Amino acid sequence: MALHSNRNSGHCSLSLAVERESRFLIQNEVGEMSTAVDERLDASRRYQYALASDDKTSHPCYAALGDACAKSELMIDLLVSVPLQQRNAMLIFAALHYQALRGHAQLAPLYGSLGGANCPSPEEFARRVIDIVSNDPTVVSALLTRSTQTNEPGRSAVFQAVLREMYRRGIDEVNLIDIGTSAGLNLYVDHYDIVRTPLRDDHDAFTLSYESLNSADLPGPLPTIRSRIGVDLSPLDLRNDDDAMWLRACLWPENPSRLDRLNAIGERLSDWPTLTLIQSDALDGLEKALELVNPDASTVVMHSWAAAYFDPELQKNFAERMRELVRLKRVSWVYLEWPRGVAGLQPPAPRDVAPRPGETQIVVALAGGEPQSWGWCHPHGRWLSLSPASGPKA
Ligand SMILES: C[S@@+](CC[C@H](N)C(=O)[O-])C[C@H]1O[C@@H](n2cnc3c(N)ncnc32)[C@H](O)[C@@H]1O
Repeated sequence: MALHSNRNSGHCSLSLAVERESRFLIQNEVGEMSTAVDERLDASRRYQYALASDDKTSHPCYAALGDACAKSELMIDLLVSVPLQQRNAMLIFAALHYQALRGHAQLAPLYGSLGGANCPSPEEFARRVIDIVSNDPTVVSALLTRSTQTNEPGRSAVFQAVLREMYRRGIDEVNLIDIGTSAGLNLYVDHYDIVRTPLRDDHDAFTLSYESLNSADLPGPLPTIRSRIGVDLSPLDLRNDDDAMWLRACLWPENPSRLDRLNAIGERLSDWPTLTLIQSDALDGLEKALELVNPDASTVVMHSWAAAYFDPELQKNFAERMRELVRLKRVSWVYLEWPRGVAGLQPPAPRDVAPRPGETQIVVALAGGEPQSWGWCHPHGRWLSLSPASGPKA
């Protein structure tokens, strides 16, 4: 089984790569026994490669936890018990983090010590976590009906760049429909300031700083957003305590700045426009959302790190419907996805090589046009290489 460890995005891309391979193995099974062995090997590798090499350096305790889980029969059992489409090491890590945030007697102080003077060594952290789960596996298993729902506002920096380019092409008012929206934080794409160089002090929650790698990413106005509609199998509301805790749990505890941003957004939400969140599968939700848009504005259907969680059949059907809507000029389609995780969408061939690992492809189909590759970005929007293709004008 070839692994794509050099291309791990830092949160789930490799897991998804392994996922595709495991499907292949399952389809080619020669007997129940070998399938079970393959599944366990696959689960072990999902833990082992859950973090990219540079993320391992900056998140040593999570890295050690991944390595220790990869060798633990119990942690492998727990991951194998998760349905394939959600079988992501990050789901297990989020479950543990969630229990810590909820005040679990042993996990709370252990996670609370991360980054502080009493922080154990990474290996000791991992050993203690696995001991806690060994004593009571329900700490994790009780939460495995949930899914990885990391909502990353950093991706709004990339959506802004695309929307600015759309404005330059004459699209001055839009309805946004975000598929797989989680808590809908990227529907507030116009509520974040942008700085095109990475800031050393990254603590202004409402300023997204990123490295802009080419000159096509130009300043300029954004279209006015007329409606903001999110679709998700399980939409989250940051104002609901339990939803907020799950969103925090999906973040990595050794990176407090993303947590600070989420908390700050939570405090600001009551001042921001109300979102329409539709609890639905991507395809049905898309149709429901289309009924709600303002007919005087152009509609943009967007998604980021969401289609990778659709099964292959849904990816194919969703893409077919989107191509039809684009052809009919009813919508434009913008997505940020890891191409190898969304083969069913048939992403367009890239026009250039991704400049860095963690490649997330920016794909845009303007109403009446074809899906085209508009470049690459970091999975959390920390860098952007934009190369807008020519296409129909509004
Ligand atoms: C990793 S999160 C990404 C959230 C958001 N798009 C972002 O970029 O921050 C993936 C989201 O897709 C949702 N999702 C997964 N499968 C889905 C489906 N079939 N239909 C609708 N939403 C789905 C999940 O519930 C989850 O909230």
